[in-house]
Amino acid sequence: MKVTAILLAAGQGTRMKSQLPKVLHPILGQPMIWHALEAVRQAANETPVVVVGHGAEKVTDYLGDSARTVVQDPQLGTAHAVMQAAPLLRGTGGLVLVCYADMPLLRGETLARLVETQKRNSGPFSMLTVFNDDPRGFGRIVRGPNGTVQAIVEEYVATEEQKKIRELNVGAYCFNGDWLWDALNRIEKNPHKGEYYLTDAVEVAVKTGLAVQAEVMEDAREAIGVNTRVHLAEVEAEMRKRVNEMHMLNGVTLIDPVSTYIEVGVKIGRDTVIWPNTYLHGKTEIGEENVIGPNTIIRDSKIGNRCKILASVMEGAWLEDDVDMGPFARLRKGAHLGKHVHMGNFGEVKDSYLHDGVKMGHFSYIGNADIGAETNIGAGTITCNYDGEKKHFTTIGEDVFIGSDTMLVAPLTLGDGARTGAGAVVTKDVPADTLVAGVPARAIRKLERAKRRNA
Ligand code: UD1
Ligand code: MG
Repeated sequence: MKVTAILLAAGQGTRMKSQLPKVLHPILGQPMIWHALEAVRQAANETPVVVVGHGAEKVTDYLGDSARTVVQDPQLGTAHAVMQAAPLLRGTGGLVLVCYADMPLLRGETLARLVETQKRNSGPFSMLTVFNDDPRGFGRIVRGPNGTVQAIVEEYVATEEQKKIRELNVGAYCFNGDWLWDALNRIEKNPHKGEYYLTDAVEVAVKTGLAVQAEVMEDAREAIGVNTRVHLAEVEAEMRKRVNEMHMLNGVTLIDPVSTYIEVGVKIGRDTVIWPNTYLHGKTEIGEENVIGPNTIIRDSKIGNRCKILASVMEGAWLEDDVDMGPFARLRKGAHLGKHVHMGNFGEVKDSYLHDGVKMGHFSYIGNADIGAETNIGAGTITCNYDGEKKHFTTIGEDVFIGSDTMLVAPLTLGDGARTGAGAVVTKDVPADTLVAGVPARAIRKLERAKRRNA
């Protein structure tokens, strides 16, 4: 059966006190509305419709073709918001799932259960409710003697008796599409606020003798809506807990989940251990049996298996297996460390490939370079890749020994087995198996590779 979701996202979100539309505030690295869309995708099977209003342009730009959008202007309440989707959906039948876009903790499975409830319901719609001792200003559910919903009473009009009701309106509904659109037209303007309330759809159904079903949600935390930044932090913490638990149940050790920040979409393999104060952002993929942190920040990076990364920062980087990195290493965009690379403290690598077994133990800068396997980069080595206008490339062969404090003035090529003396400023290409030294560096003598290796 066709199920189409409508997400309401036109409200101003005044209490966020922000330039950014409420639904674009990030939670674990993705906008609030991304989470809402993920959830409805599990319950619906048509492209969702998002009702936008405040900040419509920004929200529409963000959504791209992940959703259809309709504009609600002016914003005259939640029923009025749904009505804006009528030109797209009226007459298309099926079920219509309506959710508010500011409830990012609602799970897809919960919405799918709501849809199932409505499939079995002969009445016009079903809705989600939750029992909570803290009513958070939610509408109260008034049930009739046979258990069906009789009314949703908003807090500000509720009697003292009604205010004591602990069953609350979550704000997710599944409607019979054939019934919905005419029913919306029958909802009257709320006399107190001058808005059209979707919650009054209950009254429309009850008046005509039709039954509204309520599906009670098990986990009350799913119903934490975001109206202020205090709620935003609450939701972020809950989402973080959820994501962290998922990784732990998948076989990842988090020494201290509370101080471990893992964004949605990050992948981590089994038996990887994450020490506290570690932040994993964006499209990061981490293999098995790694030890990461403490105090490590990784963004949009790929890490193989059995790596050790201590107190380091990396972005847009790729580590192959068995890399040993840190403390205090920094990898920037395009850094690629091959197998068994060792990168010690205070190094920076950008747009460079350090092939298997390269050693770079202490404070060095490597940018725009290709460093051959088993090469040793002495302490303080710098690729002088920028002449003030352009970036230039440095190519270093295999088995090269770069002496401490060498300046490699790019563009430059050093052949396999070459060697530089401490403090050399290398401005000209160095042939294979040649020792250069001095400022500027000059060839001193030819080297015998095997001899040098054993020396
Ligand atoms: C609503 C419910 C309340 C429920 C609560 C749960 C109504 C009348 N009340 O109250 O029963 O317990 O949610 O969170 O529905 N929106 C529009 N256009 C509008 C107005 C709102 O798109 O003209 C959107 C908002 O962006 C938001 C959602 O609808 O995403 C809910 O609106 P909001 O004003 O937050 O309703 P609540 O007062 O929270
Ligand atoms: Mg709200």
